[in-house]
Amino acid sequence: GLHAKFVAKTGKKYWGSCADAGLINNAANVAILRSDFGQVTGENSMKWDALQPSRGNFNWGNADTLVNWAVSNGKLIRGHTLVWHSQLPSWVQGINNRDTLTTVIQDHIRAVAGRYAGKIYGLLLIFLLYLTKLSVSEILNENGTLRSSVFSNVLGESFVAIAFRAARQYDPYSKLYINDYNLDSNNAKTQGTVAIVKRVNQAGKLIDGIGTQMHLEANGAGGTLAALQALAGAGVEEVAITELDIKGASSNDYLTVLNACRQVPTCVGITSWGVSDRDSWRSQNSPLLFDTNYRPKAAYNALISALS
Ligand code: G3I
Repeated sequence: GLHAKFVAKTGKKYWGSCADAGLINNAANVAILRSDFGQVTGENSMKWDALQPSRGNFNWGNADTLVNWAVSNGKLIRGHTLVWHSQLPSWVQGINNRDTLTTVIQDHIRAVAGRYAGKIYGLLLIFLLYLTKLSVSEILNENGTLRSSVFSNVLGESFVAIAFRAARQYDPYSKLYINDYNLDSNNAKTQGTVAIVKRVNQAGKLIDGIGTQMHLEANGAGGTLAALQALAGAGVEEVAITELDIKGASSNDYLTVLNACRQVPTCVGITSWGVSDRDSWRSQNSPLLFDTNYRPKAAYNALISALS
């Protein structure tokens, strides 16, 4: 499958997909996850509203389902996401006290990172290759400045270091990522991301990697190589394409993304944001590698040929 060929060609890079309990219980979808994808990211199950809908009350069911499936099928796991302004419950959005918000961030990260860290790492020793990745997501505006959110409004930029310090403390094994959208070329937001990563890491390395989501338009892949190179220029160990989908899914656009990741040594892998067009958040745009009947599309065949 796609992941196996990518690994064979590059020695190490993975190709993954988002998934969750529903898509694991979908026979056609899970067969393709098994055969073609080497990594999974929770599409919704690890978001704050899913895990801690009210203070101190955690729902682990769907996230555990994904993690257990990944471990028993030998798939790498990317966590998604520890701190994000979206899908954030109103009880968090209403906090206006610095100390309370700091504690709430630390408690959430201790619970989530802590739950999967020891467990996954312990089991991961069996698989050797597999590491989790945890992320802080979508903190910048398009011009590279800090996005307004309860986190930035109450704590300023310091929330970034607070979150990463907690993640490192409660899960010393995972690679810690910052993750954003529209980092599709070397634009102002890409440069803003590089700048904030350098600032945060100046006092001691906290951020290990940068994820670019890559929800692309048709013919929109041309800036991928420049984006990955610019992000790698922040001095991080890793960069990754974390949520790839491309309107129209042309073979050429997918090959451009593949080649960009192959050319950048720090690019550790590519995650498609779904398997089949049927289950995509952009299902009207034909963005993925498998059609609405779970059949491989031309872009999938082009990737396989390029890697054969
Ligand atoms: O589970 C509820 C269901 O109970 C309810 O009846 C139904 C009615 O709307 O909603 C269901 O929840 C939906 C959820 O997906 C699970 O299917 C939410 O409404 C819907 O908003 C949510 O959409 C997700 C979206 O993030 C939310 O922001 C998409 O599945 C997911 O693919 C998308 O992924 C994001 C990444 O996390 C971050 N980057 C952008 C990317 C695309 O938006």
